[in-house]
Amino acid sequence: MEKVLVLGSINIDFVSFVSRYPQPGETLVSNDSGIFQGGKGANQAIALAKLDVPTLMLGKVGKDILSDFALSSLKESGVDTTGISKSQKSSTGSASIWVNTQGQNSIVIYPGANGEVDEDFIIRHEKFFDDASWLLTQFEVPLKSILLALKLAKKHGLKTVMDPAPVKKLSNNHLWELVDYLLPNEIELKELTHTEDVLKGIHILKSRGVKEIIVKLGKQGAVYENEGKLLSFPAVPVEQVVDTTGAGDCFIAGFLHGMIQWGDIPRAIKIGNLTASYSIQKKGAAVSFPKKSEIDWKKLE
Ligand code: RIB
Repeated sequence: MEKVLVLGSINIDFVSFVSRYPQPGETLVSNDSGIFQGGKGANQAIALAKLDVPTLMLGKVGKDILSDFALSSLKESGVDTTGISKSQKSSTGSASIWVNTQGQNSIVIYPGANGEVDEDFIIRHEKFFDDASWLLTQFEVPLKSILLALKLAKKHGLKTVMDPAPVKKLSNNHLWELVDYLLPNEIELKELTHTEDVLKGIHILKSRGVKEIIVKLGKQGAVYENEGKLLSFPAVPVEQVVDTTGAGDCFIAGFLHGMIQWGDIPRAIKIGNLTASYSIQKKGAAVSFPKKSEIDWKKLE
């Protein structure tokens, strides 16, 4: 099976489950709390590995005990961690997350060691591009390194997938020409294109050079533009939404698994919706993602 190289962040998520968000100056008691594996890069790598996709992660953890937590979560899920280094000066990236009773989240991240994934790091790891078929990345490591990795991906003949989160202002628009599949959510699409019109936003990004764009719409599923028409793919209904943290990451992994298996965008989007439906029914990001064997694949038909 084709191998995926994931370049991205590795965080530990400190999550409070709250009935409402606190006001400035207010102390609020949460209903529950947890420490979970997170980071968009690590989440997407773990979700892919749980779907039995050969996955190697490129990234950095800190010199603290949180790094042991992160490395063992990645290894236990089946991610190849030989491309992960330990920083000598920074702590492991972390995220403070509030999840409300509707399962919606608010996230503040501290990059820590993720901020040290610099261009030298990418150059030192170029050998990993040799036997991979896909590069998957997000915006939680420095932009210059992402741009270099996308260039190396093209040099080595890899297809590229990007989750443009959290949105960054780009001074170099050439990045978009290197992206084969871009998967923003509705907010990110608006921030990137300054329009609320999804179809218009897609056209703007395509005019910048992105080949294919799939827009994640949360409980509305996802949309994709084909020959000027917007095709909708509804979300898979669930009994209760517990925690949406990482659902977008799980969608992307499902989508990429579908592209590797079938090479068909509509089918891959349906797989993304299906995998994400499992993740929102459990607390935590990576820990909530389904293994391939746990998925009811009949729901795709
Ligand atoms: O996409 C969810 C992730 O965003 C969290 O796990 C958090 O660590 C941030 O990276």
